[in-house]
Amino acid sequence: MNTSEIAFERRPHANLVPANERAEQLANPGFGRVFTDHMVTIRYKEGVGWHEAAVQPRVALTLDPATAVLHYAQEIFEGMKAYRTPEGGAALFRPFANAERFARSADRMAMAPLPERLFVEAVRQLVKADRDWIPDGPDGSLYLRPFMIASEVFLGVRPSQEYLFAVIASAVGSYFKGSGNGTVTVWVSDDYCRAGPGGTGAAKCGGNYAASLKAQAEAQAMGCDQVVFLDAAERRYVEELGGMNVFFVMDDDSLVTPPLGDILPGITRESVMVLARDMGLGVREEPYAIEAWRADAASGRLTEAFACGTAAVITPIGRLRSKAGDVTIGDGAPGRLSMRLRDALIGIQRGRTSDPYGWMEKV
Ligand code: COI
Repeated sequence: MNTSEIAFERRPHANLVPANERAEQLANPGFGRVFTDHMVTIRYKEGVGWHEAAVQPRVALTLDPATAVLHYAQEIFEGMKAYRTPEGGAALFRPFANAERFARSADRMAMAPLPERLFVEAVRQLVKADRDWIPDGPDGSLYLRPFMIASEVFLGVRPSQEYLFAVIASAVGSYFKGSGNGTVTVWVSDDYCRAGPGGTGAAKCGGNYAASLKAQAEAQAMGCDQVVFLDAAERRYVEELGGMNVFFVMDDDSLVTPPLGDILPGITRESVMVLARDMGLGVREEPYAIEAWRADAASGRLTEAFACGTAAVITPIGRLRSKAGDVTIGDGAPGRLSMRLRDALIGIQRGRTSDPYGWMEKV
């Protein structure tokens, strides 16, 4: 089947959220709690292919208790954002990069490949249907959550022969609640790892996040915003945070970030590297040991650190905490280069500056 020919059925919505209630919800959306009116769904069955694409009212999914995803966690997702343009339209940030990563995640999890153009078209359809849900505020955006589950009703342990792909949308503000000076504090997990060599660390699958939750809860219990995961083999090298990548800024204004392999290949991570290189900054993807983080922060060789991701954007890290003790990064306030990179990224995403990379796709 030629998937570019799949037409999206538009199922009518009899119960749209009234405009005044929507405005109330958009006033202070937080993260991941305010959902829009619609969702997109597409089904897959072996021998049939992708079919039944629909833009429809957002409703609860009904699943047979023997649906494969409930047992063997064959599930992947994406996180991406649509922004209101200065002209009042909507634009997506690098949707084809998300489509590509989704395809790689599907491959790793032995799931049916969704054609990348169909992925992007599904997201576009939802943004078009729910464009009134894009918040206006300076931190506001429409967070899109495409995901795919193994939907075959079967308890045998093998790849499912049926899948449900869906896209939902959530009006969001900042991911972090904000601790005063705009930085976050992170906690190093000694006891738990997120991924190991040969595992699923590079796939955006729900299982990776499930495995991170206990460590993340421990970080929160220690008064921190995010957990820092170290590599599984040596328990020494920084890999990533609970739900975002990490960068280090050295006193020669160069950036270091952990190399790909077992970590999530973040689209924001990659965009930051492009922006930094074009600013003339050196960027190295190389292992960085936790003891180096502590020592460099103490000596001043490390001047800044920041978290980055679709949800986190670029969020400076002010303090590193661990069983070995605490250390402040720089003066504990947002760093100069972190904020410069953040402004450059946000400028493109919000259409305030030119987009030399062609990252924005109008909807
Ligand atoms: C994203 O940044 O889109 C993620 O998937 C991370 C999650 C913690 C919200």
